[in-house]
Amino acid sequence: MNERKIDYLRISLTDRCNLRCRYCMPQDIASVPMEEILTYEEICEIARAAAQEGIRHVRVTGGEPLVRKGCPDCIRMLKEIPGIETVMMTTNGILLQKFLPELLEAGLDGVNISLDTLQRERYREITGYDGLEKVLGAVEACIQAGIRTKINVAAAYGLNDSELLDLAGLSEKWPVDVRFIEMMPIGYGTSYHGIDNRQVLEQLRERYPGLTEADPQKDAGFGPAEYVQIPGFRGRTGLISPIHGKFCGNCNRLRLTSTGKLKYCLCYEDAEDLRIIVRSGDPPEKRRERIRQMFRGAGKRKPLEHHFEQPDQISEKKKMSEIGG
Ligand code: 5AD
Ligand code: SF4
Repeated sequence: MNERKIDYLRISLTDRCNLRCRYCMPQDIASVPMEEILTYEEICEIARAAAQEGIRHVRVTGGEPLVRKGCPDCIRMLKEIPGIETVMMTTNGILLQKFLPELLEAGLDGVNISLDTLQRERYREITGYDGLEKVLGAVEACIQAGIRTKINVAAAYGLNDSELLDLAGLSEKWPVDVRFIEMMPIGYGTSYHGIDNRQVLEQLRERYPGLTEADPQKDAGFGPAEYVQIPGFRGRTGLISPIHGKFCGNCNRLRLTSTGKLKYCLCYEDAEDLRIIVRSGDPPEKRRERIRQMFRGAGKRKPLEHHFEQPDQISEKKKMSEIGG
């Protein structure tokens, strides 16, 4: 069980965000002081050691990664690390079109854009900002640029339950995968009731009886999504089911928070402080060995499964914007 291959690292560049999604960061909250946030050099020191322990795929997240100054520089630095094969980004898309040329130049391999509604007013209600047009513009710009693009929908009752088929419909018009993520009871997400992806699948089947399972080999990505294909659609529909389809046994990922904590599972606060190591004053060789050791032990340290269904067992009290989603 614990011999799984861990080759994927999510790196949160900042806990700050330019949106205020109701299930994530509903109001302004004090953000972590800049000196507590890892510098890009420190992030890359960790990523370099991680690559020596088998990390091959990196995803940059936030908060919103593009609000941190010099984000494309960080992408470029990560891309230069031997062993790192892909560097992708998860973003809310608001600043994406503006930074896209720089990101492409830096070598970014793909973007996941978060989008929970297609209704302008509802977008504003959910995120606190009238930005739907900007996000849709960013999706189009990415498609035109030919960068691998996916859309992530966090699905919950009272948030977007009436719109799931419309959102899935984006992959009719555009060659993008639309993925439904069951809302997890983390941070402010605890006040929502995530939509069971089996119900999403049922809705899709009813509307599109010719729906088939997508070839799992094709462009499989590195994560836990299961894909179906709606006939005639240009992209696929993905289901990411952390709650109702525990994929913990296959989970191949670790998370590095913006303050340098290496996290093993979203559900638990168990983490190793890598910032202490990179700022220890030890010689570089010794630091590298200490960081490598943390990654080497990570497979064993990952819990067998999460217990999101038992709220009293969730030890993680941080907000999603601090962890990086
Ligand atoms: N459950 C599931 N997804 C969440 N996200 C933020 N909070 C939650 C939660 N509690 C998603 C955002 C974004 C990604 C970074 O994480 O919608 O797509
Ligand atoms: Fe920002 Fe993403 Fe959280 Fe929304 S979900 S507030 S976009 S970090």
